[in-house]
Amino acid sequence: MTDNIVYLNGKYLPVEQATISVMDRGFLFGDGVYEVIPVFANKLLRPDEHLSRLQNSLNRIGLSNPFSDEEWQKLFSELLDKNAGDDRAIYLQLSRGTYSKRDLSANKNCAPTVFAMVSQVVPPDIDILSAGISVITVDDFRWSACDIKSTSLVANVILKQQAAEAGVEDAILIKDKRVTEGTASNVFVIKEGVLITPPTSRRLLPGITRDLVIEIAENNAIVVEQREIKETELYSADEIWMTSSTREIAPVIKLNNKAVGAGVAGSVWKRMMDLYQQYKQGLRAM
Ligand code: PDD
Repeated sequence: MTDNIVYLNGKYLPVEQATISVMDRGFLFGDGVYEVIPVFANKLLRPDEHLSRLQNSLNRIGLSNPFSDEEWQKLFSELLDKNAGDDRAIYLQLSRGTYSKRDLSANKNCAPTVFAMVSQVVPPDIDILSAGISVITVDDFRWSACDIKSTSLVANVILKQQAAEAGVEDAILIKDKRVTEGTASNVFVIKEGVLITPPTSRRLLPGITRDLVIEIAENNAIVVEQREIKETELYSADEIWMTSSTREIAPVIKLNNKAVGAGVAGSVWKRMMDLYQQYKQGLRAM
């Protein structure tokens, strides 16, 4: 028996006993949304921002939120109490529920399927992180609703597979000769000390880590530009970073087999990483 206790539709139960119907629309259509919230020193990182993005995803797919923010927070703390650990992440997912027949039409009266679990993510070790990652550029063939944190992730899976087949960790996605994001992260380009990242739009997920990096930069007199990044700018960048809740800030040292900048994690990354760790330590003290 596992000690992995998950939440499913009002109950806390061991993961092996948490089952859903094959008629669940999450299973049949990927008709659902999700969130990944980092937990550091038993404190959630930016829970309000994650819940507000969840609300946006739900609004975009026309699914009502079954819980208030307070109820979500209560669920998270109960789930964390039932699972041992320190630095973790909460994964939560809602699907449009289980219908009696396979039908694309949405029925407003059906209860959603609500699932949450604690993932044992290990926060990236600074030494390992500073070794950097290699990436390729790939064609971003996804749909025009990438601001929805949707469980329909087959396109992202294909793109991540393309990176794996090329023998690299990840891919930077390019649409109309512009950078959108990574397969599961946002992208920053650093040029002459300035942080550049694409503006939020339906082409990318508004990352909570992205916003935190921008906020930390602005509080520390590091200039940030939110503007379109041409694909060609990647090749003249001093540094490239990929940010996400689970990966934090990963420096890209090789792009399409060519060194990025000096080919090692850059000085701006080191500074931002220090500031980011300080922010996390501040949570520990709270
Ligand atoms: N993904 N863009 C995409 C497509 C993502 O899937 C993610 C995160 C991000 C970064 O968002 P944030 O900083 O809020 O984690 C950007 C999560 C971690 C996942 O799918 O596991």
